[in-house]
Amino acid sequence: MWEERYKGDDYLFGTAPARFLIERADRFAPGASLLSVAEGEGRNAVWLAERGLSVTGLEFAPSAVAKAQRLAAERGVSPTFVQTDVFAWDWPEGAFDMVLGVFIQFVAARERTALFARMARAVRPGGTIALHGYTPKQLEYRTGGPGQLENLYTPELLRGAFPGFTVQLCESYEAELSEGKAHAGVSALIDFFAQKPL
Ligand SMILES: C[S@@+](CC[C@H](N)C(=O)[O-])C[C@H]1O[C@@H](n2cnc3c(N)ncnc32)[C@H](O)[C@@H]1O
Repeated sequence: MWEERYKGDDYLFGTAPARFLIERADRFAPGASLLSVAEGEGRNAVWLAERGLSVTGLEFAPSAVAKAQRLAAERGVSPTFVQTDVFAWDWPEGAFDMVLGVFIQFVAARERTALFARMARAVRPGGTIALHGYTPKQLEYRTGGPGQLENLYTPELLRGAFPGFTVQLCESYEAELSEGKAHAGVSALIDFFAQKPL
């Protein structure tokens, strides 16, 4: 399905980063190593690399990876893009300062537990998990995201998703998105940052 959506030369979510990254930019420190889960066409990885982070992006759609590489070349940065299924990748332990998931709500509840556990494992002690996605209210707007309620995030769900981590920020809100043709219009969103214990 994703490969089909990524056909053509245009960027489904645009080439600018998610609004979330710009709003929360001070939490993404230059020099940090960051793993972006399901990176898509590279808009976020490229912006973070331009900011001076050392970025690795995982993504399974070949067309998206090709576009991500093209965008990085155009912008003169070199994030590492790995074409892989996140459930098949050999996740390293404690390897990244940050692990980021922007709109990774393709996963249903059971798979989400396994994916979040892998993400938590990949962060170094003292490092950070960052998530940005839709809340259940998004089903009223239908301006992007999955149509399945169980895939959406509530503050309670995220607060309990990373046992032992310290929640630094968990904020749900509504905002107008203009991120390509796939994320357009008033949206019900949530931002989440949590720190792994030392
Ligand atoms: C909503 S898009 C978000 C892309 C990107 N994070 C962004 O914000 O532009 C979800 C992405 O997850 C990718 N994806 C879905 N299932 C995946 C899997 N099992 N492994 C890796 N990537 C996956 C899709 O190909 C798609 O690029």
